Amino acid sequence: MPDLSIQLLPGLKLKNPVIAASGTAGYGDEPNRLCDIADLGAFVCKGTTLKPRAGNPQPRIMETPYGLLNAIGLQNPGVEAVIEKYAPLWAGWTTPIFVNIAAESVDEYAKLAHRLDKVPGIAALEVNISCPNVAAGCLEFGSTPESAAAVTRAVKNATSLPVIVKLTPNTSDIVALAQAVESAGADAVSLINTLRGMAIDIKKRKPVLGNITGGLSGSAVKPVALAMVYRVAGAVKVPVIGCGGITTGEDAIEFLMAGATAVEVGTAALVNPRAPIEIVKSIENYMLEWKLTEMSQLIGAARR
Ligand SMILES: Cc1cc2nc3c(=O)[nH]c(=O)nc-3n(C[C@H](O)[C@H](O)[C@H](O)COP(=O)(O)O)c2cc1C
Repeated sequence: MPDLSIQLLPGLKLKNPVIAASGTAGYGDEPNRLCDIADLGAFVCKGTTLKPRAGNPQPRIMETPYGLLNAIGLQNPGVEAVIEKYAPLWAGWTTPIFVNIAAESVDEYAKLAHRLDKVPGIAALEVNISCPNVAAGCLEFGSTPESAAAVTRAVKNATSLPVIVKLTPNTSDIVALAQAVESAGADAVSLINTLRGMAIDIKKRKPVLGNITGGLSGSAVKPVALAMVYRVAGAVKVPVIGCGGITTGEDAIEFLMAGATAVEVGTAALVNPRAPIEIVKSIENYMLEWKLTEMSQLIGAARR
């Protein structure tokens, strides 16, 4: 059988390269008979902030013919509840859990990183400087290389956990962002978060989403995400986690061939909860068919 394992972060090997993306499967606590988290390479929980957040006004989700618009606004119970309620559960799981963190200031990012340091059950942090759906913070830091680097540095100084920085496509130069966070100490980068988008209800003559704009995800963003992953993977040395519209095994293989070491699957799992597991199986089948024995034969194959 092919070996699907990858070395993603310092001291952290994943059994396969498929990760559940933040915000599309909560904290992994809801029983899901269709998909076993144990079969995934890793799981990223919902964006977590220092204090609980109620999120944006409804409506917060809209399906488009090509993907999903969401403006949840980082609804979450806050870091203390995550540590009390979910971390003890995660500590008993074999799949590594990454906590996605979001904040309104550099200091808040550092506080979150410090608070989550050495909590049993947490394998890494994914620093969300890319959510387009909140009024303050987050994307504010993720859209220029200087502020993205400042957040990365502060988080790295506050924790001994490996740090992944999640980048936004809502910028003029994602390569510069990736290089800046790499120089500031990021152990890996993940990309992309959602692309800012909107819809208007022409009968009500009003924006559909309560937040007016939202973030587009799903199949529609895949070619954009793939091109960004290809460019970033050619410009940094740290591992790249590809994300954006990955729905099938073939999609995932494209991201791996573009140079991603792992992939995150979000919207596809909302449509089909088994999608991430089916993607693992499909990568395995492709490797068998093409007589590949290890992931290094797939990662970056389209760059050689
Ligand atoms: C409903 C929803 C909630 C999300 N919440 C978060 C979040 O809390 N933190 C984050 O970094 N990304 C969040 N995302 C972005 C996804 O993790 C992912 O980056 C994006 O949707 C693109 O991947 P996809 O097309 O596979 O969904 C969210 C996406 C959706 C659809």
